Amino acid sequence: MSENQYDLAIIGAGPGGYHSAIRAAQYGAKVALIEKDKLGGTCLNRGCIPTKALYASSHLIEKIKEADEFGIEVSDFKLSFSKAVERKNQVVKELVDGIEALEKGWKNDIYNGFGKIIGGNIDTGFEISIEGEKNTTIKAKRIIIATGSSPALIPAFNIDHERILTSDDILDPNFKIIPKRLLIIGAGVIGCEFANIFATFGSKVTMLEYLSSPIATEEPMIVKVLQKKFENLGIDIHTAKNVLSVENTGNGVKATTCSADVPRDQTENAEKDIFEADLCLVSIGRAKESKNIGLEVVGIETERGAIKVNPKTLETAVKGVYAIGDVTGGIMLAHVAYHEADVAVANSLTSIGGFPSEEMKTDYTVVPATIFTSPNIGSVGYRRKIAKNLGFDVLMGQFPYQSLSKAKCMGEEEGFIMVLADKTTHKILGASCIGAEASELIAEIALAMKHGLTIHEVTETIHSHPTISELVLEGCEAVVGKSIHKKGRPIHH
Ligand code: NAI
Repeated sequence: MSENQYDLAIIGAGPGGYHSAIRAAQYGAKVALIEKDKLGGTCLNRGCIPTKALYASSHLIEKIKEADEFGIEVSDFKLSFSKAVERKNQVVKELVDGIEALEKGWKNDIYNGFGKIIGGNIDTGFEISIEGEKNTTIKAKRIIIATGSSPALIPAFNIDHERILTSDDILDPNFKIIPKRLLIIGAGVIGCEFANIFATFGSKVTMLEYLSSPIATEEPMIVKVLQKKFENLGIDIHTAKNVLSVENTGNGVKATTCSADVPRDQTENAEKDIFEADLCLVSIGRAKESKNIGLEVVGIETERGAIKVNPKTLETAVKGVYAIGDVTGGIMLAHVAYHEADVAVANSLTSIGGFPSEEMKTDYTVVPATIFTSPNIGSVGYRRKIAKNLGFDVLMGQFPYQSLSKAKCMGEEEGFIMVLADKTTHKILGASCIGAEASELIAEIALAMKHGLTIHEVTETIHSHPTISELVLEGCEAVVGKSIHKKGRPIHH
């Protein structure tokens, strides 16, 4: 194969793209990885990783405040958000460098520039132009589009990147301010993670949410625990608020809202509430990055910006071109993009032939989700209401951290796990957890669900003592009233 000819070209090097490139190289494919910005995409540079690095600082603040209880007198301590940001930047840099080293280790060619499909088909191969420091054109037998998403922008919110910001602005390596008052529009995952970090660093945080609950996708009981914690942090959450406009007033921001109950065509005359702050974060969802990449040239179809794919194979309307991750408008999670990368790589290389790959299909039946607030939230499978609506006869077991010896030792008594199982088969239908390491705990339930295990198969597995992982064991035991460390009910057979 000549120098600029490839088996597979991948446009976008976020979690979906960089993972695809490495996986394809493992099968022996010649790979081009095209990225206009830094390797790692949103997750590494402007998403999961920088927020978790800042979260680590804010969590430490919480721990220092409790130090006295643990026999450590901390008479004085000062917060430096700019140092926390520098540490965050270093974490990001090391991980981005790590991705580059991995790609190079697999001999994948990295092209820095904006990739655009300019022609071709599955028989002749595709041509891609790359506009960057060096403009060039490459050829590839197959393409995976993994161009991701960016913060959704609404004109009325006047995002000026000065006072009215997106998560990209806040995670910029040079953003080092803790505003006195921060207004957050959208109390979803991003909004709640930032509210937690900034309130812990001392901002007075106010959140405006359209729906009647923050993170409405999670179990109401779980959200209640988070709301209580947020209240203690001084975070005000205003739900059922329709934000009509946001303005930069020169020395602050002003949001005008009305009740979400007011029909959209009658908001002009509705009663208004005004919220003011120093800075505003708009976190109301994300838009797909599908513009100007040549989709129309070859006939790839989109729907409201999302690239349409066969949900099982991830092939687009054009044979030989696949799309994965946020740009497809599916579940916008890095780990879902990893899974889709495996599927798209396997299918594209199998269709070329000559690689040790086999066709794969997507499987979204078990997708764990984690929210890095303090306490953490982890969930997987069905929520209780949805399981009931689907006709399952649901058994539920709950177990609190308070009754777990390891959690007590750690001073992490807040929160609980709830496990759902089918009444007839006792197979696990889902679980939700809020508390210490909830984001890690949920992995065990995900594995159990993926393999169709019953609660008994989990409880018959010896769990190390004393560990936080015993929460999963006791949660599963609680489903049938067999939890040892919680008052239950006698067992009936
Ligand atoms: P989201 O969909 O989680 O939350 C957006 C929130 O904004 C919703 O509650 C929505 O009702 C509200 N909203 C929308 N328009 C509004 C308006 N005009 N006024 C007031 N509220 C409004 O989206 P978010 O938080 O921006 O996150 C984007 C994606 O990134 C999600 O898919 C999320 O799962 C993912 N993500 C995942 C993380 C993780 O796994 N830990 C961390 C951060 C983001």
